[in-house]
Amino acid sequence: MKKYRGNVFLVGPMGAGKTTIGRQLSELLKQEFVDSDHEIEARTGANIPWIFDVEGEAGFRLREESVIDFLTQRSPIVLATGGGAVMRESNRRHLHERGVVVYLLTPVSAQLERTSRDRNRPLLQTPDPRKRLTELMELRDPLYRETAHIIMPTEGGGAREVAMKIIHALEARGTLE
Ligand code: S3P
Repeated sequence: MKKYRGNVFLVGPMGAGKTTIGRQLSELLKQEFVDSDHEIEARTGANIPWIFDVEGEAGFRLREESVIDFLTQRSPIVLATGGGAVMRESNRRHLHERGVVVYLLTPVSAQLERTSRDRNRPLLQTPDPRKRLTELMELRDPLYRETAHIIMPTEGGGAREVAMKIIHALEARGTLE
């Protein structure tokens, strides 16, 4: 099989499996895996709940913008972005222009299941996380679609299977060496 080489950027909501699927993809493509949330935490020396607490969401978004600009200029990597990265126009542009963007399409019910015991996502520390996830999807789904080159459903298969499907989709686009 001819190998795809080039940046792959994963976008999608919290609980879409961006990190898990991204790791599988990076193994299959033999490309480095980078997670923008981890990079933000490493640079800041603090975790995401702390950043939201001290600097607010606006402070986090500023950090996220600068990390995404930096990481999308590296190549070839597999990058998992945070669920809100598409909110900024500059992020959407950098992602779309500097790699192949894959939207991991995931219904709210699956997002909820996969994030239910999580305490590290400040936006979900609310009495009604289903409502929050639904509102976020209404706002963000059009932006994920606008940014993506490939839309990949994540249900009905494990992370490895989804990663394989993404590789087939990359091949189908003809973006091969
Ligand atoms: C966020 C998603 C999180 C993280 C932050 C904000 C969002 O990333 O960036 O908590 O706005 O949806 P994951 O999608 O990796 O959970």
